[in-house]
Amino acid sequence: MDKILVTGGLGFIGSHTVVELQNEGYEVVIIDDLSNSSIKVLDGITAITGKTPVFEKLDLKDKDGVSAFFKKHNDVKGVIHFAASKAVGESVKEPLLYYENNIGTLVYILKELKKLPAASFIFSSSCTVYGQADELPITENAPVKQAESPYGNTKQIGEEIIRDTCKVVSTLKAIALRYFNPVGAHETAKIGELPIGVPQNLVPFITQTAIGLREELSVFGEDYPTPDGTCIRDYIHVVDLAKAHVVALGRLLQDKNKVNYETFNLGTGKGSSVLEVVQSFERVSGKKLNYKIVDRREGDIISAYADTNKANDELGWKTELTLDDAMRSAWKWEQVVRENK
Ligand SMILES: NC(=O)c1ccc[n+]([C@@H]2O[C@H](COP(=O)([O-])OP(=O)(O)OC[C@H]3O[C@@H](n4cnc5c(N)ncnc54)[C@H](O)[C@@H]3O)[C@@H](O)[C@H]2O)c1
Repeated sequence: MDKILVTGGLGFIGSHTVVELQNEGYEVVIIDDLSNSSIKVLDGITAITGKTPVFEKLDLKDKDGVSAFFKKHNDVKGVIHFAASKAVGESVKEPLLYYENNIGTLVYILKELKKLPAASFIFSSSCTVYGQADELPITENAPVKQAESPYGNTKQIGEEIIRDTCKVVSTLKAIALRYFNPVGAHETAKIGELPIGVPQNLVPFITQTAIGLREELSVFGEDYPTPDGTCIRDYIHVVDLAKAHVVALGRLLQDKNKVNYETFNLGTGKGSSVLEVVQSFERVSGKKLNYKIVDRREGDIISAYADTNKANDELGWKTELTLDDAMRSAWKWEQVVRENK
């Protein structure tokens, strides 16, 4: 089976994708610098799949290190590039860190892929590229709006860099996957999301509140023009998301792509409000969540959910798991994390 490089493969989405790749028989090599993950994740992957992927600890900002990696692994057929910094607030304070880590690393990898006789490349993009879209659900043709943060801008610029490169490098095929809101954990609770410090995302904040690590959840605003007044997002189970990467990679490796640069939305197609997520958590955990409504938070868009037709029809992929499944797995994972602390 083909050898696939997964950058950021010990992170949240990367680790779940490594599991699905190994389940499909791919030979996986992970690069991660452990800046936002733990080496213990490797044990989790091994426990689930019975196989330990090759692991190279490398900071992808080290251009020579990236070159040396591709000399050593010159039989890599595809790359799934997750490695990036992802904290929106931090990116506003430290834009150059984000441009260096999210753009510099991308360029170094593409330069190496350009040298190969053939290469398939999957990029982690985000629905943040759409901003507050004018029409819902959001299709891939919705205009890309001015980015709200340097982080968001790195995804827009990243997509442009790949598109421009694919125009001139005929041996390179690429897909940018625009994730909506990834949540949940593997059902075995051997891997999951490991936020460092105070979680920026809703679901880890909920589970950390329920376990007693945070006092209460702040729900930012209940006066939005939505049915219950809270913001709406499209929460996709990380295992469904991981499987989409395997399908997208297969499309490129088997030459099923229509053009050599494509974009796909990855979401469920269903929007859920903040309060609906809280209710889902309470339903599956049997616990009452301590939360309060506070003022709106600056920069939050009102509503975003995916039109999934392109991914469903062209990739032949669709989500199988529900929000309740995601909340159940996230809660199970949170409890395992606390037990092991
Ligand atoms: N989680 C989300 O909500 C979300 C939504 C849309 C897009 N994305 C994108 O998906 C990708 C993966 O996200 P995630 O949630 O799994 O994040 P994560 O932080 O859990 O995983 C990223 C991994 O990359 C590693 N990494 C970062 N910089 C590196 C470098 N210079 N060299 C080597 N390794 C490096 C980190 O140590 C980490 O293990 C990111 O590109 C992110 O921007 C995430």
